Amino acid sequence: MTRAVFLAHTAAPSGAELATLRLLDALRATGRYEVTMIYTEDGPMVARTRERGIDTDIVSGQFDSRAMRIGTGILGLLTGFLALLRLGWNVGAAVRDSRADVVVAESTKALVLGSVAARRARVPLVWQVHDRVSPDYFGRLPALAIRCLARLMCRGQLANSRATAATLPTGLPTAIAYPGVELPATQADPRTRPAAEAVVVVVGRLSPWKGQDVFLRAIAALDQRPARVVLVGGTFFGEEPYRAELEKLAAELGVAAEFTGHVDDPSEYLNTADILVHCSVLPEPFGQVVVEGMAAGCAVIAATPGGPAEIIETGVHGLLVPGGDTAALTTALDTLLHDPATRVRLATAGRARARDFDIHTGARVVADFLDTVVTRGD
Ligand code: GLC
Repeated sequence: MTRAVFLAHTAAPSGAELATLRLLDALRATGRYEVTMIYTEDGPMVARTRERGIDTDIVSGQFDSRAMRIGTGILGLLTGFLALLRLGWNVGAAVRDSRADVVVAESTKALVLGSVAARRARVPLVWQVHDRVSPDYFGRLPALAIRCLARLMCRGQLANSRATAATLPTGLPTAIAYPGVELPATQADPRTRPAAEAVVVVVGRLSPWKGQDVFLRAIAALDQRPARVVLVGGTFFGEEPYRAELEKLAAELGVAAEFTGHVDDPSEYLNTADILVHCSVLPEPFGQVVVEGMAAGCAVIAATPGGPAEIIETGVHGLLVPGGDTAALTTALDTLLHDPATRVRLATAGRARARDFDIHTGARVVADFLDTVVTRGD
Protein backbone atom coordinates (compact mmCIF):
# COMPACT_ATOMS: atom_id res chain seq x y z
CA MET A 1 0.00 0.00 0.00
CA THR A 2 1.38 3.42 -0.95
CA ARG A 3 0.83 6.41 1.31
CA ALA A 4 0.10 9.76 -0.28
CA VAL A 5 -0.34 13.09 1.47
CA PHE A 6 -2.37 15.74 -0.35
CA LEU A 7 -1.88 19.41 0.44
CA ALA A 8 -4.38 22.26 0.06
CA HIS A 9 -3.74 25.86 1.11
CA THR A 10 -7.43 26.68 1.45
CA ALA A 11 -10.37 24.82 2.96
CA ALA A 12 -12.97 26.81 0.99
CA PRO A 13 -15.24 24.61 -1.14
CA SER A 14 -14.06 25.81 -4.55
CA GLY A 15 -13.51 23.69 -7.64
CA ALA A 16 -9.99 22.38 -7.01
CA GLU A 17 -10.75 21.42 -3.41
CA LEU A 18 -13.96 19.62 -4.36
CA ALA A 19 -12.15 17.77 -7.15
CA THR A 20 -9.47 16.71 -4.64
CA LEU A 21 -12.05 15.40 -2.19
CA ARG A 22 -13.69 13.22 -4.84
CA LEU A 23 -10.29 12.00 -5.99
CA LEU A 24 -9.17 10.98 -2.49
CA ASP A 25 -12.30 8.96 -1.95
CA ALA A 26 -11.85 7.15 -5.25
CA LEU A 27 -8.11 6.65 -4.73
CA ARG A 28 -8.83 4.86 -1.47
CA ALA A 29 -11.39 2.73 -3.28
CA THR A 30 -8.65 1.46 -5.63
CA GLY A 31 -7.23 -0.35 -2.58
CA ARG A 32 -3.76 0.76 -3.68
CA TYR A 33 -3.44 4.04 -1.77
CA GLU A 34 -3.77 5.27 1.77
CA VAL A 35 -4.44 8.98 1.74
CA THR A 36 -4.12 11.89 4.14
CA MET A 37 -5.41 15.39 3.46
CA ILE A 38 -3.59 18.35 4.99
CA TYR A 39 -5.27 21.76 5.01
CA THR A 40 -3.42 24.80 6.25
CA GLU A 41 -6.52 26.51 7.60
CA ASP A 42 -9.87 25.51 9.02
CA GLY A 43 -12.89 25.82 6.74
CA PRO A 44 -15.87 23.96 5.30
CA MET A 45 -13.71 21.40 3.45
CA VAL A 46 -12.27 20.07 6.70
CA ALA A 47 -15.61 18.73 7.92
CA ARG A 48 -16.58 17.55 4.44
CA THR A 49 -13.36 15.56 4.13
CA ARG A 50 -13.68 14.07 7.61
CA GLU A 51 -17.31 13.16 6.93
CA ARG A 52 -16.05 10.77 4.29
CA GLY A 53 -13.75 9.15 6.80
CA ILE A 54 -10.61 10.52 5.15
CA ASP A 55 -7.64 11.11 7.45
CA THR A 56 -7.53 14.93 7.70
CA ASP A 57 -5.06 17.27 9.39
CA ILE A 58 -4.86 21.02 9.82
CA VAL A 59 -1.35 22.44 10.00
CA SER A 60 -1.66 26.18 10.37
CA GLY A 61 0.78 29.03 10.80
CA GLN A 62 0.99 32.77 10.33
CA PHE A 63 -0.01 32.43 6.72
CA ASP A 64 -3.34 33.92 5.63
CA SER A 65 -4.30 32.56 2.23
CA ARG A 66 -6.49 35.60 1.55
CA ALA A 67 -3.64 38.07 2.09
CA MET A 68 -1.76 36.75 -0.94
CA ARG A 69 -3.72 36.66 -4.08
CA ILE A 70 -3.38 37.72 -7.69
CA GLY A 71 -3.01 41.49 -7.75
CA THR A 72 -1.27 41.78 -4.36
CA GLY A 73 1.71 44.19 -4.43
CA ILE A 74 5.31 42.96 -4.43
CA LEU A 75 5.79 43.50 -0.67
CA GLY A 76 2.62 41.60 0.14
CA LEU A 77 3.73 38.80 -2.16
CA LEU A 78 7.14 38.58 -0.49
CA THR A 79 5.77 38.56 3.06
CA GLY A 80 3.20 35.99 2.06
CA PHE A 81 5.88 33.90 0.39
CA LEU A 82 8.07 33.85 3.50
CA ALA A 83 5.10 32.86 5.69
CA LEU A 84 4.36 30.09 3.19
CA LEU A 85 7.91 28.76 3.46
CA ARG A 86 7.68 28.71 7.24
CA LEU A 87 4.38 26.91 7.10
CA GLY A 88 5.84 24.46 4.58
CA TRP A 89 8.49 23.56 7.16
CA ASN A 90 5.76 22.63 9.67
CA VAL A 91 3.84 20.70 7.05
CA GLY A 92 7.07 18.80 6.34
CA ALA A 93 7.09 17.50 9.91
CA ALA A 94 3.48 16.30 9.54
CA VAL A 95 4.35 14.61 6.24
CA ARG A 96 7.33 12.88 7.84
CA ASP A 97 5.23 11.69 10.78
CA SER A 98 2.65 10.24 8.42
CA ARG A 99 5.39 8.13 6.75
CA ALA A 100 4.20 9.27 3.34
CA ASP A 101 5.74 7.98 0.11
CA VAL A 102 4.70 11.01 -1.91
CA VAL A 103 3.28 14.52 -1.46
CA VAL A 104 0.75 15.93 -3.90
CA ALA A 105 0.28 19.70 -3.99
CA GLU A 106 -3.20 20.80 -5.07
CA SER A 107 -2.62 24.47 -5.85
CA THR A 108 0.13 26.95 -6.60
CA LYS A 109 0.44 27.99 -2.97
CA ALA A 110 0.45 24.31 -2.01
CA LEU A 111 3.29 23.88 -4.51
CA VAL A 112 5.37 26.39 -2.54
CA LEU A 113 4.43 24.75 0.76
CA GLY A 114 4.97 21.31 -0.68
CA SER A 115 8.41 22.19 -2.03
CA VAL A 116 9.63 22.83 1.49
CA ALA A 117 7.60 20.05 3.10
CA ALA A 118 8.67 17.34 0.64
CA ARG A 119 12.34 18.30 1.05
CA ARG A 120 12.05 18.20 4.81
CA ALA A 121 10.31 14.80 4.71
CA ARG A 122 12.59 13.53 1.90
CA VAL A 123 9.77 12.33 -0.35
CA PRO A 124 8.96 13.14 -3.98
CA LEU A 125 6.60 16.02 -4.76
CA VAL A 126 3.91 15.91 -7.44
CA TRP A 127 1.97 18.98 -8.48
CA GLN A 128 -1.67 18.45 -9.39
CA VAL A 129 -2.47 21.49 -11.48
CA HIS A 130 -5.97 22.99 -11.56
CA ASP A 131 -5.08 26.40 -13.04
CA ARG A 132 -3.57 27.42 -16.34
CA VAL A 133 -0.14 28.81 -15.48
CA SER A 134 -0.46 31.61 -17.98
CA PRO A 135 0.13 35.38 -18.03
CA ASP A 136 -3.60 36.08 -18.55
CA TYR A 137 -4.39 34.43 -15.20
CA PHE A 138 -1.29 34.92 -13.01
CA GLY A 139 0.61 37.76 -14.71
CA ARG A 140 3.76 37.23 -16.78
CA LEU A 141 6.42 37.16 -14.04
CA PRO A 142 4.47 35.08 -11.50
CA ALA A 143 3.63 32.55 -14.23
CA LEU A 144 7.31 32.26 -15.10
CA ALA A 145 8.36 31.96 -11.45
CA ILE A 146 5.76 29.25 -10.79
CA ARG A 147 6.92 27.25 -13.82
CA CYS A 148 10.57 27.49 -12.68
CA LEU A 149 9.68 26.40 -9.15
CA ALA A 150 7.75 23.40 -10.43
CA ARG A 151 10.55 22.45 -12.80
CA LEU A 152 13.06 22.54 -9.93
CA MET A 153 11.06 20.97 -7.13
CA CYS A 154 8.63 18.45 -8.65
CA ARG A 155 9.07 14.88 -9.70
CA GLY A 156 5.99 15.08 -11.91
CA GLN A 157 2.84 17.01 -12.69
CA LEU A 158 -0.80 16.07 -13.24
CA ALA A 159 -2.79 18.50 -15.39
CA ASN A 160 -6.59 18.74 -15.31
CA SER A 161 -6.74 19.14 -19.11
CA ARG A 162 -4.57 19.37 -22.21
CA ALA A 163 -5.21 23.13 -22.12
CA THR A 164 -3.65 23.29 -18.64
CA ALA A 165 -0.79 20.97 -19.60
CA ALA A 166 0.12 23.32 -22.46
CA THR A 167 0.96 26.04 -19.90
CA LEU A 168 3.23 23.87 -17.70
CA PRO A 169 7.01 23.54 -17.72
CA THR A 170 8.39 21.03 -20.18
CA GLY A 171 10.90 18.38 -19.20
CA LEU A 172 8.88 16.94 -16.29
CA PRO A 173 6.87 13.71 -16.43
CA THR A 174 3.32 14.91 -17.05
CA ALA A 175 -0.04 13.17 -17.24
CA ILE A 176 -3.51 14.46 -18.02
CA ALA A 177 -5.86 13.55 -15.18
CA TYR A 178 -9.30 14.95 -15.92
CA PRO A 179 -11.24 15.69 -12.71
CA GLY A 180 -13.93 13.07 -12.30
CA VAL A 181 -17.58 13.27 -11.34
CA GLU A 182 -19.39 10.97 -8.97
CA LEU A 183 -22.06 9.66 -11.29
CA PRO A 184 -25.50 9.19 -9.75
CA ALA A 185 -26.90 5.63 -9.89
CA THR A 186 -29.69 6.90 -12.13
CA GLN A 187 -29.18 9.95 -14.28
CA ALA A 188 -32.10 12.37 -14.72
CA ASP A 189 -33.81 12.53 -18.13
CA PRO A 190 -33.34 15.64 -20.31
CA ARG A 191 -36.01 18.32 -19.86
CA THR A 192 -38.32 19.43 -22.67
CA ARG A 193 -40.08 22.54 -21.38
CA PRO A 194 -41.13 25.11 -23.98
CA ALA A 195 -39.00 28.29 -24.08
CA ALA A 196 -41.31 30.37 -21.88
CA GLU A 197 -41.27 27.71 -19.14
CA ALA A 198 -37.62 26.74 -19.36
CA VAL A 199 -35.09 26.94 -16.54
CA VAL A 200 -31.54 28.13 -17.29
CA VAL A 201 -28.79 27.86 -14.69
CA VAL A 202 -25.18 28.91 -14.25
CA VAL A 203 -23.33 27.02 -11.53
CA GLY A 204 -20.01 28.10 -10.05
CA ARG A 205 -18.24 30.63 -7.93
CA LEU A 206 -19.29 34.21 -8.74
CA SER A 207 -16.06 35.67 -10.06
CA PRO A 208 -15.33 38.19 -12.82
CA TRP A 209 -13.36 35.64 -14.88
CA LYS A 210 -16.27 33.20 -14.72
CA GLY A 211 -18.21 35.74 -16.83
CA GLN A 212 -21.62 35.71 -15.17
CA ASP A 213 -22.09 39.30 -16.42
CA VAL A 214 -21.83 38.04 -20.00
CA PHE A 215 -24.54 35.52 -19.17
CA LEU A 216 -26.93 38.18 -17.83
CA ARG A 217 -26.42 40.33 -20.92
CA ALA A 218 -26.99 37.35 -23.20
CA ILE A 219 -30.25 36.55 -21.40
CA ALA A 220 -31.35 40.18 -21.64
CA ALA A 221 -30.94 40.11 -25.43
CA LEU A 222 -33.26 37.10 -25.93
CA ASP A 223 -36.62 37.66 -27.67
CA GLN A 224 -38.18 35.05 -25.45
CA ARG A 225 -36.82 34.90 -21.91
CA PRO A 226 -36.93 31.60 -20.03
CA ALA A 227 -39.17 31.26 -16.96
CA ARG A 228 -36.28 31.06 -14.51
CA VAL A 229 -32.68 32.24 -14.61
CA VAL A 230 -30.67 30.96 -11.66
CA LEU A 231 -27.10 31.78 -10.66
CA VAL A 232 -25.96 29.08 -8.25
CA GLY A 233 -22.71 29.85 -6.47
CA GLY A 234 -20.99 31.70 -3.69
CA THR A 235 -18.15 34.17 -3.30
CA PHE A 236 -15.06 33.06 -1.41
CA PHE A 237 -11.94 34.95 -2.37
CA GLY A 238 -12.88 38.61 -1.96
CA GLU A 239 -15.44 38.34 -4.75
CA GLU A 240 -18.41 39.80 -2.82
CA PRO A 241 -18.36 43.11 -4.75
CA TYR A 242 -18.80 41.16 -7.98
CA ARG A 243 -22.03 39.63 -6.67
CA ALA A 244 -23.32 43.13 -5.87
CA GLU A 245 -22.35 44.24 -9.39
CA LEU A 246 -24.18 41.29 -10.90
CA GLU A 247 -27.33 42.00 -8.92
CA LYS A 248 -27.21 45.63 -10.03
CA LEU A 249 -26.65 44.61 -13.64
CA ALA A 250 -29.56 42.16 -13.55
CA ALA A 251 -31.82 44.91 -12.20
CA GLU A 252 -30.66 47.37 -14.88
CA LEU A 253 -31.23 44.80 -17.61
CA GLY A 254 -34.60 43.82 -16.18
CA VAL A 255 -33.53 40.18 -15.84
CA ALA A 256 -35.26 38.49 -12.89
CA ALA A 257 -32.21 36.41 -11.95
CA GLU A 258 -32.21 34.35 -8.75
CA PHE A 259 -28.96 34.26 -6.74
CA THR A 260 -28.76 31.24 -4.46
CA GLY A 261 -25.36 31.90 -2.87
CA HIS A 262 -23.13 28.90 -2.19
CA VAL A 263 -24.87 25.53 -2.07
CA ASP A 264 -23.00 22.39 -1.05
CA ASP A 265 -24.88 20.17 -3.45
CA PRO A 266 -26.11 21.86 -6.63
CA SER A 267 -27.73 18.68 -7.96
CA GLU A 268 -31.28 19.85 -7.18
CA TYR A 269 -30.70 22.66 -9.70
CA LEU A 270 -28.79 20.57 -12.23
CA ASN A 271 -31.33 17.72 -12.18
CA THR A 272 -34.22 20.03 -13.07
CA ALA A 273 -32.73 22.73 -15.33
CA ASP A 274 -33.22 22.58 -19.08
CA ILE A 275 -29.98 24.36 -19.90
CA LEU A 276 -26.70 24.80 -18.04
CA VAL A 277 -24.49 27.67 -19.17
CA HIS A 278 -20.76 27.90 -18.60
CA CYS A 279 -19.48 31.33 -19.66
CA SER A 280 -15.91 31.93 -18.43
CA VAL A 281 -14.18 34.81 -20.17
CA LEU A 282 -10.66 33.43 -19.57
CA PRO A 283 -9.90 29.94 -20.85
CA GLU A 284 -11.35 27.50 -18.31
CA PRO A 285 -8.70 25.03 -17.11
CA PHE A 286 -11.19 22.14 -17.02
CA GLY A 287 -14.76 23.07 -16.03
CA GLN A 288 -16.19 20.38 -13.75
CA VAL A 289 -19.61 21.97 -13.90
CA VAL A 290 -19.79 21.23 -17.63
CA VAL A 291 -19.53 17.50 -16.93
CA GLU A 292 -21.84 17.74 -13.91
CA GLY A 293 -24.49 19.48 -16.02
CA MET A 294 -24.18 16.87 -18.76
CA ALA A 295 -24.35 14.03 -16.22
CA ALA A 296 -27.56 15.53 -14.81
CA GLY A 297 -29.32 15.67 -18.20
CA CYS A 298 -28.94 19.40 -18.93
CA ALA A 299 -28.26 20.66 -22.43
CA VAL A 300 -24.95 22.46 -21.93
CA ILE A 301 -23.59 25.61 -23.53
CA ALA A 302 -19.92 26.14 -22.67
CA ALA A 303 -17.23 28.66 -23.48
CA THR A 304 -14.04 28.08 -25.45
CA PRO A 305 -11.07 27.90 -25.44
CA GLY A 306 -9.89 25.62 -22.61
CA GLY A 307 -11.14 22.44 -20.95
CA PRO A 308 -14.76 22.51 -22.22
CA ALA A 309 -13.52 21.97 -25.78
CA GLU A 310 -11.96 18.69 -24.57
CA ILE A 311 -15.26 17.60 -23.04
CA ILE A 312 -17.79 18.68 -25.66
CA GLU A 313 -17.84 18.23 -29.40
CA THR A 314 -20.04 21.13 -30.38
CA GLY A 315 -23.38 20.15 -31.90
CA VAL A 316 -22.97 16.62 -30.53
CA HIS A 317 -22.73 16.76 -26.72
CA GLY A 318 -23.65 20.42 -26.27
CA LEU A 319 -22.81 23.77 -27.82
CA LEU A 320 -19.51 25.64 -27.60
CA VAL A 321 -19.34 29.42 -27.94
CA PRO A 322 -16.34 31.76 -27.74
CA GLY A 323 -15.90 33.01 -24.13
CA GLY A 324 -16.97 36.64 -23.72
CA ASP A 325 -19.02 36.68 -26.93
CA THR A 326 -22.45 37.81 -25.70
CA ALA A 327 -24.10 37.66 -29.14
CA ALA A 328 -22.91 34.08 -29.71
CA LEU A 329 -24.26 33.06 -26.29
CA THR A 330 -27.61 34.68 -27.04
CA THR A 331 -27.80 32.77 -30.34
CA ALA A 332 -26.94 29.46 -28.66
CA LEU A 333 -29.54 30.05 -25.92
CA ASP A 334 -32.12 31.04 -28.50
CA THR A 335 -31.48 27.86 -30.51
CA LEU A 336 -31.82 25.57 -27.51
CA LEU A 337 -34.80 27.37 -25.99
CA HIS A 338 -36.84 27.21 -29.19
CA ASP A 339 -35.86 23.74 -30.24
CA PRO A 340 -36.55 21.22 -27.46
CA ALA A 341 -35.78 18.34 -29.85
CA THR A 342 -32.19 19.56 -30.34
CA ARG A 343 -31.97 20.24 -26.63
CA VAL A 344 -32.89 16.63 -25.89
CA ARG A 345 -30.55 15.24 -28.55
CA LEU A 346 -27.57 17.18 -27.16
CA ALA A 347 -28.48 16.45 -23.54
CA THR A 348 -28.82 12.73 -24.23
CA ALA A 349 -25.44 12.53 -25.96
CA GLY A 350 -23.95 14.74 -23.24
CA ARG A 351 -25.24 12.47 -20.51
CA ALA A 352 -23.50 9.50 -22.13
CA ARG A 353 -20.32 11.50 -22.66
CA ALA A 354 -20.23 12.46 -18.97
CA ARG A 355 -19.69 8.82 -18.10
CA ASP A 356 -16.20 9.07 -19.65
CA PHE A 357 -15.37 11.32 -16.68
CA ASP A 358 -16.26 8.83 -13.97
CA ILE A 359 -14.08 9.61 -10.92
CA HIS A 360 -13.00 5.98 -10.64
CA THR A 361 -11.40 6.14 -14.09
CA GLY A 362 -9.67 9.39 -13.09
CA ALA A 363 -8.40 7.89 -9.84
CA ARG A 364 -6.76 5.01 -11.71
CA VAL A 365 -4.91 7.49 -13.93
CA VAL A 366 -3.65 9.32 -10.85
CA ALA A 367 -2.70 6.08 -9.03
CA ASP A 368 -0.77 4.80 -12.07
CA PHE A 369 1.10 8.10 -12.36
CA LEU A 370 1.94 8.30 -8.65
CA ASP A 371 3.17 4.69 -8.83
CA THR A 372 5.77 5.67 -11.44
CA VAL A 373 6.93 8.63 -9.33
CA VAL A 374 7.24 6.59 -6.15
CA THR A 375 9.09 3.77 -7.93
CA ARG A 376 11.55 6.14 -9.53
CA GLY A 377 12.21 7.61 -6.11
CA ASP A 378 13.12 4.22 -4.60
C1 GLC B 1 -10.18 24.83 -10.87
C2 GLC B 1 -10.38 25.23 -12.33
C3 GLC B 1 -11.54 24.46 -12.96
C4 GLC B 1 -11.38 22.97 -12.73
C5 GLC B 1 -11.15 22.66 -11.24
C6 GLC B 1 -10.84 21.21 -11.00
O1 GLC B 1 -11.26 25.26 -10.10
O2 GLC B 1 -10.63 26.61 -12.44
O3 GLC B 1 -11.60 24.69 -14.35
O4 GLC B 1 -12.54 22.30 -13.17
O5 GLC B 1 -10.07 23.41 -10.75
O6 GLC B 1 -9.63 20.81 -11.62
